[in-house]
Amino acid sequence: MNICIFASGTGSNFKALVESAEAGYLTSRISLLITNNSNSGAAGIAAKHGIDCVHISRQKFPEISEAEYADLFSKELESRAIDFIALCGYMKPVLPSVLSKYKDRIVNVHPALIPSFSGKGMFGMHIHKAVIQSGVKVTGLTIHFVDGEYDSGRIIFQKCCDVLADDDAESLCERVKRLEHRYYPEIIKMFEEGRVRISPDKVNIV
Ligand code: GRF
Repeated sequence: MNICIFASGTGSNFKALVESAEAGYLTSRISLLITNNSNSGAAGIAAKHGIDCVHISRQKFPEISEAEYADLFSKELESRAIDFIALCGYMKPVLPSVLSKYKDRIVNVHPALIPSFSGKGMFGMHIHKAVIQSGVKVTGLTIHFVDGEYDSGRIIFQKCCDVLADDDAESLCERVKRLEHRYYPEIIKMFEEGRVRISPDKVNIV
């Protein structure tokens, strides 16, 4: 596959995917990072690994129409023949034109077990704080397809981990991230191998 990553922040999942490709575990090429934040950690990782990085944000292009803004994405994705998109902490909604072009080819990782602790406002440390406050004993990660709503696309994969008695949001975030860095590359590999089967009501890995 020819993969584009969308990321806004630290980029540790992006780094895990890049390293998996460099090590030959993934056969895909990660050929582009699109970020809405040119100062992001993700942009730095792209530079370090020689991956093209394009900054597209409304701050950078405040005046252009919605259609012209959407064209900026299409132009980058099409000119590079991108056929798969992985979101790695992308804090902006994905535009409808991108979603329709990449139906069942755009995925996200969420640091909780969807449908719990997901949806509007559930991002970053807010999630892990809410998990601890709720008193649940397990949390985890979800890899899911991206549709037009927050965290609502069909679930592809979940893995859980314990919430320990002395956890705070930071320690929990770290435990979940370790899982993300292991399983996000694994699930991308399942796509490479054609092992993700999509039927109208569910997704199975075969
Ligand atoms: C991850 O926890 C991911 O689940 C969520 O955003 C965070 C991004 O972290 N969607 P990083 O930038 O990959 O370190």
